[in-house]
Amino acid sequence: MRVVVVFFTLALCAATWALDNGLMRTPPMGWLAWERFRCDIDCDNDPKNCISEQLFMDMADRLSEDGWRELGYVYVNIDDCWSSMKRDAQGRLQADPKRFPGGIAKLARYMHDRGLKLGIYGDMGTHTCGGYPGTTLDTITLDAQTFADWEVDMLKFDGCYSNATEQAQGYPSMSKALNATGRPIGYSCSWPAYQGGLPPKVNYTELGQICNLWRNYGDIEDSWGSVLSVADWFFENQDILAPAAGPGRWNDPDMLVIGDFGLSMDQSRSQMAMWAVMAAPLFMSNDLRTISSGARTILQNKMLIGINQDPLGVQGIRILKEKSGIEVFWRPLSAGASALVFFSRRTDMPYRYQSALSKLNYTSGRYQVHDVFSGKTDALKDSTPFVVSVNPSGVVMWHVSAPAADKPRLHTGGKLRGPAYYRHDDNNNDLPPAFL
Ligand code: GLA
Repeated sequence: MRVVVVFFTLALCAATWALDNGLMRTPPMGWLAWERFRCDIDCDNDPKNCISEQLFMDMADRLSEDGWRELGYVYVNIDDCWSSMKRDAQGRLQADPKRFPGGIAKLARYMHDRGLKLGIYGDMGTHTCGGYPGTTLDTITLDAQTFADWEVDMLKFDGCYSNATEQAQGYPSMSKALNATGRPIGYSCSWPAYQGGLPPKVNYTELGQICNLWRNYGDIEDSWGSVLSVADWFFENQDILAPAAGPGRWNDPDMLVIGDFGLSMDQSRSQMAMWAVMAAPLFMSNDLRTISSGARTILQNKMLIGINQDPLGVQGIRILKEKSGIEVFWRPLSAGASALVFFSRRTDMPYRYQSALSKLNYTSGRYQVHDVFSGKTDALKDSTPFVVSVNPSGVVMWHVSAPAADKPRLHTGGKLRGPAYYRHDDNNNDLPPAFL
């Protein structure tokens, strides 16, 4: 009898603690309103750009008709400023009646009819960051149920207007409440962003158990300076962040601003390459109705998306910072393949960077190298010197195959040495390789 009781107690603990929604085994992809459309609620004067059901329907049309959905961009996510300033008579959150006349449930149906998913925004606190009604500890269950009743597929749970104690209670409680609805709802937690993003305050093991993704850092904006400062923070703290990521649990460096106003084509390729190496969620915040074909080509690059979506789910890292201003990033992929990014911080001219795969710690062998942006393919031995020409604030990005033996082997006794990629910590989290 005691054994049975212990078993059930353990099972119950597991059921209540693990975010066992089976979602987001690879980083989620889609579109998110905030960076591009902010809190524009002036539908009278700016009907095309205001936060309204029409905006989300327009984006859904583009995602489903312009080839995005097939590539994996399936989430259409509402951010702040969607709700009415008042809860309804039953105390439930409700959409602004003028801007969302059909309500959120109808919008969710619109997405589902097109093979898309709807995300919504809430806030652990008295108000959202934009001043709309928030979710306090006493309304968590009700709000989770409301989102589930509307058939919403994802929740971004922000953290304005709450203190550390409330957040420590609220974020796990919302996870449990979402699980308890029985509807799989992807859960994005902004909690670490409100704790400074780093230990000792952030417990990434706990986050991995309760959230599918989490914002660690400040908001991205539409400028290269902003994109670079976000990327720098993530790579500077990679020893803490990379082990936290894995299938179903991702660090979120925030939205892609490719297709907006602030980035050149080279910088757009850089953001895409770095986000792919980081195994970051790919949420575009741009206007898909008017996006340039250049930006679209970058965002729709299949090999790049394949790297981002690699099923191994290991977050890549910076492996070299050269005096020349060149940095090299690396991400191990499934089946012994990998991705390499050569990035230039220079501001003068394309830099001819010379290296060899052996210098980047690749094991001996022959490799197939695909240039992700030019589409060119090359065979390269680990020891063969190569030169990549990297534009100022631009990248060269490679997909590198698993190594084949240098020379044909006459006997099959020895196994090929794969790249010595990962170590695991006691919790079986992937750790960056020891050679760094
Ligand atoms: C915070 C978040 C942003 C956005 C705004 C909305 O700043 O970090 O991503 O959701 O709130 O007000």
